[in-house]
Amino acid sequence: MKYETQRIAYPFFAVAMLLFALQIVFGLLAATVYVLPNFLEVAMPFNIIRMSHTNLLIVWLLIGFMGCTYFLMPEEAERETHSPLIAYIQLGIFVIAGVGALVSYQFGIHEGREFLEQPFWVKVLITISFLMFLYNTSMTLLKGRKTAINMVLMLGLWLAAVFWLFAFFNPSNLALDKLYWWWVVHIWVEGVWELIMASLLAYLLIKMTGVDREVIEKWLYVIIGLALFSGLLGTGHHYYWIGAPGYWQPIGSIFSTLEVLPFFAMVMFAFMMFWKGRRNHPNKSAMLWTLGSAATAFFGAGVWGFMHTLSFVNYYSHGTQVTAAHGHLAFYGAYVMMVLAVITYAMPQLRRVQPYNQVMNMWSFWMMTGAMAFMTFTLTFAGVVQTHLQRVLGMNYMEVQDQLALFYWMRLGAGVAVAIAAVLFLYSIFGKVKEQVPAGGPQLAANTGPTV
Ligand code: HEM
Ligand code: HEM
Ligand SMILES: [Fe+2]
Repeated sequence: MKYETQRIAYPFFAVAMLLFALQIVFGLLAATVYVLPNFLEVAMPFNIIRMSHTNLLIVWLLIGFMGCTYFLMPEEAERETHSPLIAYIQLGIFVIAGVGALVSYQFGIHEGREFLEQPFWVKVLITISFLMFLYNTSMTLLKGRKTAINMVLMLGLWLAAVFWLFAFFNPSNLALDKLYWWWVVHIWVEGVWELIMASLLAYLLIKMTGVDREVIEKWLYVIIGLALFSGLLGTGHHYYWIGAPGYWQPIGSIFSTLEVLPFFAMVMFAFMMFWKGRRNHPNKSAMLWTLGSAATAFFGAGVWGFMHTLSFVNYYSHGTQVTAAHGHLAFYGAYVMMVLAVITYAMPQLRRVQPYNQVMNMWSFWMMTGAMAFMTFTLTFAGVVQTHLQRVLGMNYMEVQDQLALFYWMRLGAGVAVAIAAVLFLYSIFGKVKEQVPAGGPQLAANTGPTV
């Protein structure tokens, strides 16, 4: 850790990981309702559990992105963060907003509209906090060195804020509502967040492989070009059945198929840089999460996304468990794993020790990723059976759900394994450092190998 203000990232990571743990708890509760339908029916109905699960995911990922930005910006811009005070206040506001949403939900207060259920005042606080964050990090960038990595990262974050504003736009016409709703839900994960992912990936690869910055930057430009080119019109794959004009069927099908390309480019990029790299970085588990994220995102977003994106396939699969399978692996691979990769990379430096507890961290990687993959396979099988029984044979929805019970039990089992893996991860990061600190002092230890 070269700059004192990189320390700001620590509380962001701590809060993000706390909410990650809560997200998984709500996931387990939701999965339990699927197999024991009366579970908690009065205390906490399924819709409340579900929105708590998905909102916690989004909130902790955003706090995670902020932490990642505060960590890498000083290094990339070669100057300290503009104002640590703004950072801490802005974190406080975000936490109040997140907790406020969670508590409101338990009292049945929410605005509906999946993912955007937050009460109005919470949306306002989120906007204020995010603008303070953007001001703080943009000021750092403006006064400092501009690199492809910090520019692309800031572009992604600013565009995320711009598209977030559509959360405030809620036309009473349901078709119009859905049309703009996807400008947040789709354009975030299949457009502007990809810029965030790609720049974090590029940062980790520069640091850990030692490949030249020029090579990394060329890849970065290609990836963001592909992401924006395909992702914006790719929104059309959500316009098939909402009452939008028919031309969205070919436009959505073609452009969303092209959305596979940036994810393919990212996985090629990660593995090629890994093979070309001269440096043998001591933080092996951070490298594992980095490569794992690119690979899992390619499968979860690219392969599982393409599976149901053509309009004549989506006609049958729309809104089935196939969608849930894809949603889990895509979010996990692209965004969860990328934030966990940066945390794994940054924490030894933030704690001023050598990379530590790596074996336990790698156990958590394989267990969590294996269990998320298993959950995805189970839900995919459930989705295929569901599509056939319900959409082809025309069986009634609830009758079909009874046929899927075995898959739902297996999903719950996979969820328990994810929870255990998460505990391992948290312990490996925040727990006691067992490894010996070598001679030369802990300050020097974090950055072995030549620096870029
Ligand atoms: C990291 C990137 C991605 C994430 C996080 C993601 C996540 C999701 C989520 C959560 C949903 C469910 C939304 C809802 O109805 O509530 C969804 C739907 C969908 N996604 Fe993705 N996705 C990603 C990338 C992709 C890509 C690249 C494709 C196409 C190649 C794709 C194709 C689809 C389709 C067609 C649907 C609609 C499914 C339906 O009709 O029920 N996704 N995605
Ligand atoms: C970090 C890992 C996880 C991520 C990224 C994640 C993400 C998501 C997303 C995006 C949705 C909305 C899906 C959609 O609308 O298609 C969702 C719903 C859900 N998740 Fe997770 N989740 C994770 C972990 C878990 C775990 C461990 C469980 C427990 C088994 C779980 C159980 C559920 C359930 C039951 C739903 C509701 C599905 C439905 O309404 O049909 N999730 N999750
Ligand atoms: Fe989409």
